Amino acid sequence: MQEDIINLKNQAIAQISGAGDAGELEELRAAYLGRNGKFTLLVKKIKEIPPEKRKEFGITLNESKIAIENIISDKKHELLKSLTEKREWFDLTIPGVKPNLGHLHPLTQVLSEVKQIFNYLGYQVADGPEIETDYYNFEALNIPKDHPARDTQMTFYIDGGGILRTQTSAMQGRVMEKMKPPFRVLVPGRCFRYEQVDASHGFEFWQVEGFVVDENIHLTNLFGTIDYVLRELFGKEIKLRYATTNFPFVEPGVDTYMSCTICGGRGCSFCKGTGWSEIMPAGMIHPNVLKTAGIDTKKWNGFAFAIGLSRIVNLRYQIKDLRTLTTPDLRILKQF
Ligand code: DAH
Repeated sequence: MQEDIINLKNQAIAQISGAGDAGELEELRAAYLGRNGKFTLLVKKIKEIPPEKRKEFGITLNESKIAIENIISDKKHELLKSLTEKREWFDLTIPGVKPNLGHLHPLTQVLSEVKQIFNYLGYQVADGPEIETDYYNFEALNIPKDHPARDTQMTFYIDGGGILRTQTSAMQGRVMEKMKPPFRVLVPGRCFRYEQVDASHGFEFWQVEGFVVDENIHLTNLFGTIDYVLRELFGKEIKLRYATTNFPFVEPGVDTYMSCTICGGRGCSFCKGTGWSEIMPAGMIHPNVLKTAGIDTKKWNGFAFAIGLSRIVNLRYQIKDLRTLTTPDLRILKQF
């Protein structure tokens, strides 16, 4: 009997050691130690053993069971280990696929740069309505009803009164009525004109109006400002030139031309072959504008200018067609 146990144990150990996977191992465990397993059946035979041999039988049986349990547990670990080694694990340190991130629109990017530059010069930003009155958009700017300058700003009129502002200069009157000089103000905003849309015209565009009212302001203050701002925006190597021009709300009026950044001054369709690009119209604020707003012109004077924001973005990124900026095409927007 004793020998039978040892033989059975050795047989079990040999089979268990050769088990190829967890399923086979479990089958073997059940075959030897399960409810109807070979060792379990042997335990039941203990009654048939003569009493003097029972103790020895019991001890051998127990030791064998423990030995088999141990070898099953060892085998289990061994199988698990080889399985782990074989499996392809995820490497969490490998960089994943980058999700597409949005970013600010080029117009917004340039606008915040412009604001920062003027903030450094002591300007505060004012926001105004896109639906304006005829008064602020024209009359307060020295453009009465029959003034020919109105023809240059084709206007959208709204049923029941009001217009879509054609220029952010419309904020001059609103600010001047409210604020006490001295002040420096910047007004970024959308403007609208009834224009035939093409590569260089839109019915909607972004403008940044700026104006300063203080004592003893001279044209040189204006030139210094334009010079500083455009060089900050486009780099020190740009060339500037000024020409006189006429806007009813400034006297004298100044047109600023910058060497065309698209063709480097050689002449292209964007600068109409001249090598120069009109960039910042400006001038000394007309006394009529100050007076209309109730500002004492004996004490105060000032200058005003406008920046065509869309134009700056085009020159900066060398975009020849204005319409590119308002397209929702991601292949274009991703380039900025
Ligand atoms: N408001 C003018 C326009 O949109 C541009 C302009 C010209 C603004 C001269 C100014 C200025 O402040 O001084 O056509």
